[in-house]
This record gives sequence, C-alpha cells and structure tokens, in this order.
Amino acid sequence: MSEVITIANQKGGVGKTTTAVNLSASLAVDGKKVLLIDIDPQSNATTGLGFNRNNYEFNIYHVLIGRKKLSQIILKTEIDNLSLAPSNIGLVGVEKEFYDNDTRGRELILKHAIDEIKENYDFILVDSPPALGSITINALSAADSVIIPIQCEFYALEGLAQLLNTVKLVKKTINPSLEIRGFLPTMFSTQNNLSRQVFADLQQHFKNKLFVTKNDKAFVVIPRNVKLAESPSFGKPIILYDDKSPGSIAYKDLAKSILAS
Ligand SMILES: Nc1ncnc2c1ncn2[C@@H]1O[C@H](COP(=O)(O)OP(=O)(O)O)[C@@H](O)[C@H]1O
Ligand SMILES: [Mg+2]
Repeated sequence: MSEVITIANQKGGVGKTTTAVNLSASLAVDGKKVLLIDIDPQSNATTGLGFNRNNYEFNIYHVLIGRKKLSQIILKTEIDNLSLAPSNIGLVGVEKEFYDNDTRGRELILKHAIDEIKENYDFILVDSPPALGSITINALSAADSVIIPIQCEFYALEGLAQLLNTVKLVKKTINPSLEIRGFLPTMFSTQNNLSRQVFADLQQHFKNKLFVTKNDKAFVVIPRNVKLAESPSFGKPIILYDDKSPGSIAYKDLAKSILAS
C-alpha cells in the first residue's frame, strides 16, 4: 500500500521543502521506494536535490496541463530508492491557464497523474508552494494525508486556522479520506523562550497530532540546525551531507515515526 503525503503550509519559509526533501531521503535510505513531487514554482526541492531546474525540458507543469504523464518527467536521484518529479518557474503560469481555459476537474489533475504510478512507490511526497491556490488544492486533493510544518518562531500559528479550513473544505468536497498526518515543529531552538512557547501551544492544541519517536515516545521536533540550511547548496539531503547532525537525526526520527504508525 502506498501513501501520498503532502507537505503544506501557505506561509513561506516554515520548513516545507526541507521536510519534503529530508523526509523523502530518510524514508528512501530506510529501504522504501519514494517519489518526491516538487509542485512549487520556486523549485527548491528540485535544486535541493542537486538538479538544475532549467536543464529539464519537461517538468510538473507539463503534467498539470496534460502534456506529459508523470512517468515521463521522473528523474533518478543520488539515492537509489528516491526519485524526483521536478518543477520549474514556468509553473507560475498554471493557475492562470486553469482559469483562462476553465479547465474541468482541475483540482484532480495531480491525483489522476499520481494514480497511474502510485503502485510503483511506497511513499509519494508532495512539496507544495506557499499559497492556498489551485496548486495546493491539487496537492491536498491527491493526498492521503498532510504534514503541516510549524516554524517555532513569531506568528507560528497565524494563518493556521485558514489552512485547517482549507484542509477541511478539500476533505468535505473533493477528498473525503484526507487526514492530517501531523504537525511538525521546525527550527526549534532550546535556548529560545519563544520556541518553547510555540511548542507548548502545539502540545496544548494538537497533542495527538504530534509525531513521536518510536522508542522513548518523545515528540519529534526538528531543531534549528545550520547543516540543514547548508545542505541544499550542495544539492544533497542532510543524510548525505552530514548524517550525524541533529537535523539529520531528527528527520530520521520523523521517518521512523511515520513507518511505525
Ligand atoms: N531546521 C532548520 N534549521 C535551520 N535552517 C532551516 C531549517 N529548516 C529550514 N531551514 C532553512 O530555512 C529556509 C526556509 O526553509 P524551507 O524548507 O525552504 O521553507 P518553505 O519550503 O516552507 O518555504 C531555508 O533557507 C532552509 O534551508
Ligand atoms: Mg518550499
């Protein structure tokens, strides 16, 4: 049984791409067959895995406009079990194209594309853009579950109600089986009172939706770790860049938590 997990939060800079890339890599290194779909025009997951987004004639944009099948754009990565469906800045045009052509069933284009290849993978992760437009609706409509990264900083929970409403609406109208897999605290610093406050708020409101480590039942929290910020510039997930770093350990814990539940 394969699972499609969308990483979503309409706020930018909260750790969506970092989570998508590093959770994918950790699951793949754990022996799972993983496809990461980059569906953000900024293409940070594509570049973060070492691909020059301008080198590929076809990308997820061509899938969304019906020109290519997902299987025709998939690239192999440095990690054996991990494949990537790349994105490109050209994807910014897709929402207008949907609108201009009044494309029917446009919310379900990604889902239909995924359905054709779903059985080839154990996990399909979707890295969505910082917005709640058609692209993110496609990503939520295609998903079995959603992971919501929450940056442990100022205004962490601002906008969360809107995101949760969107998830609820998609569940009600398009994708009844959509579940919230969990909230993931990111960029946590122990010395920072605010970080601790945000985490306490998350525990208060969503305790049963936080990820727990397999053995000691601690919560999985992604620390602020400079290695996580550096690794994309080397085109590598953290597990290949610095496997012993706290960031790498945290994403491996997240993968284990997901595999255990
Ligand atoms: N745990 C972390 N520790 C340090 N830097 C991080 C961490 N998570 C993300 N970053 C950095 O913060 C920035 C935003 O993260 P990113 O994953 O791109 O967010 P999003 O995809 O939500 O916009 C990036 O420069 C990234 O490298
Ligand atoms: Mg991103």
